[in-house]
Amino acid sequence: MLSREENDLLIRTNPGTPMGRYIRHFWIPVLFSQQLPEPDCPPVRVKVLGEKLVAFRDSQGRVGLVDERCPHRNASMFFGRNEESGLRCVYHGWKFDVTGRCVDMPSEPPESNFKNKVSIEAYPCEERGEVVWAYMGEPAKMPAFPDLEWTRVPPSHRFSSRHVMECNWMQGMDGGFDASHLSFLHKGDAEGGRIVDLATEYEPIVTDFGAIMASGRKRDGGNVHWSLDLLLLPFHKLINRHGPPDAQIGTHMWVPIDDETCMIWSIEYHPHRPLTDRDLARSKKFLYIHTENNPGSDHAVINRANDYMVDRERQASGASFTGMKGLGIQDCGIQESMGPISDRTREHLGRYDRLVIHLRRILMSEVEGMEAGKPIKATVPGVHAVRSACATIHSGEPLQNAIEKIIAPVPPPLVVEKPLLATAEVH
Ligand code: FES
Ligand SMILES: [Fe+2]
Repeated sequence: MLSREENDLLIRTNPGTPMGRYIRHFWIPVLFSQQLPEPDCPPVRVKVLGEKLVAFRDSQGRVGLVDERCPHRNASMFFGRNEESGLRCVYHGWKFDVTGRCVDMPSEPPESNFKNKVSIEAYPCEERGEVVWAYMGEPAKMPAFPDLEWTRVPPSHRFSSRHVMECNWMQGMDGGFDASHLSFLHKGDAEGGRIVDLATEYEPIVTDFGAIMASGRKRDGGNVHWSLDLLLLPFHKLINRHGPPDAQIGTHMWVPIDDETCMIWSIEYHPHRPLTDRDLARSKKFLYIHTENNPGSDHAVINRANDYMVDRERQASGASFTGMKGLGIQDCGIQESMGPISDRTREHLGRYDRLVIHLRRILMSEVEGMEAGKPIKATVPGVHAVRSACATIHSGEPLQNAIEKIIAPVPPPLVVEKPLLATAEVH
């Protein structure tokens, strides 16, 4: 159970909130590169951490991410003209480049230097892994881009999707690291229909990237099979690698849109080879971590409005514990069912909620550390270059001792993806 203040600390990410300030120390995914397919294409609305923004790709192919409101009189830049290296507000023609500088102000007399005094809020962007990322924090504290393995493999090695969740980002995070639900919510669907027995050991191990969230299942011969999910601060989860030995790796990010909605990004990738039709079929048939969205939108076809198409017959027959189809829908459905902001003051957490408890503690202590002026640890270059794993070790051996052998740093990728287009200058 959390106090009201602790709950608020975790969930609120708008400008000026402690968690909002914390997350703004990191690079944040804001849209797919393909949403801005070519120079001077139409701009796209973006909402992240409670801020309404507009993204555009200028004539040089650089991505800009600016405040939606024109600094002249607050007209929406979404309706702007994207032309000749800048976005021009259609109300009175003020034009801004990707750095936010006002480069033309035709509504003022030619001798005026007013345009040099006005700028629009703009965030530096980078394109990695076919995703546009923004840095929304203090310019002086901008970290190097994190070495996330999935962003460094060629496009053929990766499959990505995203959709809006109608709940606060912490509900997604809690669910992502809540290892005991696997044996209930996903029963009948997880691991291709195999029943996943309930883990009885839960061990969070704090690391320089965040934490290893380990859940263990007893096996014959005094062994414990550990599934190691990785929390990469502030909002990434690397899913423990399971299934066939050569299976792809799954990862999620839960990015706050505002206090009552978040964007869940789902990526599957293989470090060494292109994903095959079989990989994708496996992902579709067994996992469904990717949802099917209404065309041109980030909203899943199966959603709250249609009760996630719960099939009561499948539920009653036991073919599926929930009667909802696919892990992604089950997670999203049940996390949204808590309401847009879950009231954690009325929870009753048990022993098998240990990882959820620790996830919250880790995030709260990171925010407290920031407030006390400590360095933000997971912004250090290189720390995100890790890979999730599973491992069976003897129950006599403490997990902590084995961890270095299991979670090895990822070697540099064989192929580094070339960006399709030049990216915005970061300064
Ligand atoms: S409101 Fe944008 S130029 Fe006037
Ligand atoms: Fe789940």
